[in-house]
This record gives sequence, C-alpha cells and structure tokens, in this order.
Amino acid sequence: MNDPKEIMRRVNALAKISEEADRLTRTFTSPAMRQANQLAAGWLRQAGMKVRRDAIGNLIGHYAGENPRSKILLLGSHLDTVRDAGKFDGPLGVVLAIACVENLHRRKIRLPFAIEVVAFADEEGVRYQTAYLGSKAFAGCFDPKDLRRKDAGGISMASAIENFGGDAAKIKSAATDPKQLIGYVEAHIEQGPVLEEKNLALGTVTAIAGQTRAKIIFKGRAGHAGTTPMDLRKDALCAAAELIMAAENLARKTDGLVATVGQIHAGPGAVNVIPGEAHLSLDVRHVKDSTRHAALQRLGQTALKIARKRGLKSHFEIVHEASSVACSTTLSGLLGKAILRRQKKWLQLPSGAGHDAAVMAKICPAAMLFIRCKEGVSHHPSESVKAADVKLALGVMNDFLQMAAEKYRQIHGV
Ligand code: GLV
Ligand code: MN
Ligand code: MN
Repeated sequence: MNDPKEIMRRVNALAKISEEADRLTRTFTSPAMRQANQLAAGWLRQAGMKVRRDAIGNLIGHYAGENPRSKILLLGSHLDTVRDAGKFDGPLGVVLAIACVENLHRRKIRLPFAIEVVAFADEEGVRYQTAYLGSKAFAGCFDPKDLRRKDAGGISMASAIENFGGDAAKIKSAATDPKQLIGYVEAHIEQGPVLEEKNLALGTVTAIAGQTRAKIIFKGRAGHAGTTPMDLRKDALCAAAELIMAAENLARKTDGLVATVGQIHAGPGAVNVIPGEAHLSLDVRHVKDSTRHAALQRLGQTALKIARKRGLKSHFEIVHEASSVACSTTLSGLLGKAILRRQKKWLQLPSGAGHDAAVMAKICPAAMLFIRCKEGVSHHPSESVKAADVKLALGVMNDFLQMAAEKYRQIHGV
C-alpha cells in the first residue's frame, strides 16, 4: 500500500471519531477510543496481522517473522488525542506503520524478525493528567498507584480501564519482554517549524526533551466583589496570575526552557464573587533534566512565597515526570540512510514534544522519523501535512525495514 491518498483517507476516517460533537477529542478508554481501535484493528488484520488488545487498552498487531521464535521490531504511535486536536498527531504514525506491514504482506515477504504495530492507548495524558499510560504499561513501568487517580468526573482510572474491557488488576500482563525486542520506531509529525524552515520533508530525532507536569492549587477566601476592600481580599486567582507570570518569565530567561499553564479553574466562578480557589496545571520541559528540575524547584518556592504574601494556602504536586532520553544512533542511522535516498540532507533534531518513544527507550533502542507539518502547528485543528511528504515517509519506512532486515541477517547469520 504505497498510495498516500489511502493513508490520508485513513487519517481522515480516524479524525471523524471523537467524543465531542464539533471537534476532535479522543481520550484514554473513551467510547471514541474503542471505535478508533475497532477501525484500526480492521486495517491491522487486512495487513496480515494477528490482533490483540492488552490489559490497559493498547491495540497490537503481530506480523510473524521467518520463524516462530523471531525477535520483534516494534512500530507505532498513539491513537488518543488532546482536546480540539489536529488529526495527524499520533494517528499518522499508526497508519504509516500499518501501511509498511501491508506492503510486506501483499508481496508475501517475511523478515528475519517479527513486526508488531502498537497503537498506544494514552500518550497525551488528557484524562488523568499523567501521560504515556499505554507505553508505560507496554514497557512494564506503569505505576499501579495511578489506578487510583480520578478524572474530572470522579471516575477512577481502574474503573475506566474495566469499563473499556481492560483489566486493571492485570496491567502487569501488558508488559512486553524486552529480551524479545530489537527496537521501537515511531513516525510522527514534527509539531514544530524546523523542517519546514529548512525546506526538508523528513528528519530524525536525536533526543526527546524531559517533561514535568504539576498540579497547583491556591486556596483563599471567596467574598463579595462589591463590598470587600482590596486590602482585605484573599483572591486565589490573582495568586495564580502571579505564578503564571513567574513561570513565563523564568522560561523566557532560561535558554531552551518552556513552561505552560494550559488549564486553569477558578471557583466559585461568578462575575461578582472573589475567587476563593484556583487550580492550575503547569507543564515544564527542557532537554537537560537538571535545568528542568531547577526550574520546578524555583517555581514551587515561588508558589509558596506568593501564597504567604497573600495569606493563602497553596499546594504544589508533581503529577507526571519523564526524563530526557536519547534516541538510538543505530536505528536513526538506518532511517537517515533511507532519508538520503529521497532528500538531499539528513537533518537530526531534538523533540520538544513528548512521545511514546521516550518510554520505549527505557527498554529497547528507540528512534523517530519526523515529518514536516505546516507552519509547525500542532495540538490544534489546523495541523496539516502534505500527501507528498507522507509518501516520502512511507518510502523511508519501507526502505528502513529492508535495511534493518539486511543488517540483522549480517549480524545473526540468518
Ligand atoms: C504530547 O504531545 C506532549 O508533548 O505533551
Ligand atoms: Mn500530542
Ligand atoms: Mn503525539
């Protein structure tokens, strides 16, 4: 299957599956994820794969290698999305991986290793704030304490998994055996402007930036907006505003640091009531873990200082932490060789976005193929990728598999 139109058709079909009527949102274990998994399962079967779903809801297709004991090369990405998402972040990698296997299947080719295509159940972490739930379970580093987390509607992660048809008590069974793995390769849109700026369709990733997500609460006192003098107020939202500005200032003056407050809730939430409570999310990233840790420590202290100064209570809790990881130079080198067959330059760039590859790198060599996206826009419905670039990416993935097979035969004499 080398037709980019068919790949785009599949990406578009997935983009129609949403839990919100007029925008694309597909979160962990939602009915929309079930429907997306069903659609992708059909494509996996059509590509000659045996399909299974694990205890947390990852969808996996297995394409057998030349012999039943063949090791496994993993290809994949995620099928969950952010709120009001673009259609390529995640699904494009899954659909490309399926297309590669379909090409082998149609030509009746078996490789000296098996291929597993994994469509991860949660990379974005929208529903439970903590990201990579799917790849963490697959890589055997899921923290069972996370099962007690509640979503915005009070549903625990354990119940959400059970309702989806998974098995919260058996998450450990989703762990793959690292000894069986050759590596993990993920194709993904760049989500940044670098490839476009360099006039290149494709590149590979050197390292994935570490990230921390924190939950911050300021508690003050609600009161009458007309009668409470300014110096007697305990306005939690004003404290939050100060912290937001502190995060922006720190990131602006620290090279390579990015800090974002993407969610804020102020209560009780009336035009004429002083906010007594403010809840914020904080997302901080840097390729160097020590810089990120220092920033978090500083912002934690700043939150305390702001609260003290205003006579409020504050709570600062880390809810997700992922260290910066380097990609495999061997796998990236093969992708690079395949890229050079199609474009004049092989660009290697770091990823500021998080990816399942960052988790998979803990248990096997991992690499990423980046695909140019329009104006670098992502996590937004206007995310856009050219069909011509998708065609090049598929060519690179197909060649990569052939090259990896040759290399494997040389090393193992099979
Ligand atoms: C996921 O896309 C992230 O980088 O937050
Ligand atoms: Mn994303
Ligand atoms: Mn993604």
